[in-house]
Amino acid sequence: MTSQPMQASAEAQPNIALVKYWGKRDGALNLPAAGSLSITLDALHTRTSLRFDPALADDDIRLNGERDAAQTRKIGAFLDLFRARAGIATRARVESGNDFPTGAGLASSASGFAALAVAADHALGLGLEPRALSVLARRGSGSAARSIFGGFVAMAAGTRDDGEDAFATPLLDAAAWPLRVVVAITTRKKKAISSRDGMDHTRDTSPFYRDWVATADADLASARVAVQARDFEKLAHVSEGSCLAMHAVMLSARPGLIYWNAATLECIQCVRSLQAEGTGVFFTIDAGPQVKAVCLPEHAARAADALRNVAGVEDVLVSGLGAGARIIGTET
Ligand code: PMV
Repeated sequence: MTSQPMQASAEAQPNIALVKYWGKRDGALNLPAAGSLSITLDALHTRTSLRFDPALADDDIRLNGERDAAQTRKIGAFLDLFRARAGIATRARVESGNDFPTGAGLASSASGFAALAVAADHALGLGLEPRALSVLARRGSGSAARSIFGGFVAMAAGTRDDGEDAFATPLLDAAAWPLRVVVAITTRKKKAISSRDGMDHTRDTSPFYRDWVATADADLASARVAVQARDFEKLAHVSEGSCLAMHAVMLSARPGLIYWNAATLECIQCVRSLQAEGTGVFFTIDAGPQVKAVCLPEHAARAADALRNVAGVEDVLVSGLGAGARIIGTET
């Protein structure tokens, strides 16, 4: 392995699902119970530097400048997938940072594992195709499989037990339909229940879980058509429907999972008022209290102004759609 650089830096952006995934068909391989469709953002970044170093006895992993035993185990296990492919056991030093709040429903795990997958592939000289990187990124976090690609992205649930057909595919470039996303941040606190635990709890206790999973195929088909036709109203209709159905199944778990706060609901009402006056905007919300308002480019400023004035909104970020995960250097 000495001919390989053994180090790389990568950057990736979070993605926001418009057709949501919530539930796994296999926990160990992190296989989604249903497909999903997302947009990759351009304004929020994870930057990750990785170096495999024979002098290290253990992986040394710092996220936003801090070491955490649970995260180190999780990321170490993820790196093992790459070490196994390269036939090495060498430990690694990882430094990863986000320029946005981590673990607060802004998809930091998506950009984090996508950046790490791309960096590990490059550092070890594996030369994996984007599809294989998407399969591997999925092992870290279901949504990370989508951040390998930019623009509009579809994720397949697949049917194989080994998960090799559960990967994301690019649908449409960011430049082909340059929507904007206004992110209304209603708290910077970390969420209390991780997506993984929340999904398991929902599957195990909600009387509506099967019905929720059964909505995905039709929603995916409509969203694909809407994206291909650049039909904003159709995309708005299916996306809000998928988001609210996901939150409905979360609420119906026992005990119910409530990721929203009061400002989340105020933001939804604000988006509804904007829609009533003809603004091209719709909302979507993940496993957290932040509201993402997807807008036609010419309506983003209006939506950002309105959401900034909602009581309880701490900050508003405006993003375009961006590129997939990529190498930014081989120096660490
Ligand atoms: O990426 P995960 O496995 O932590 O789960 C993501 C779940 C949602 O963000 C709520 C929905 C989605 O499809 O991204």
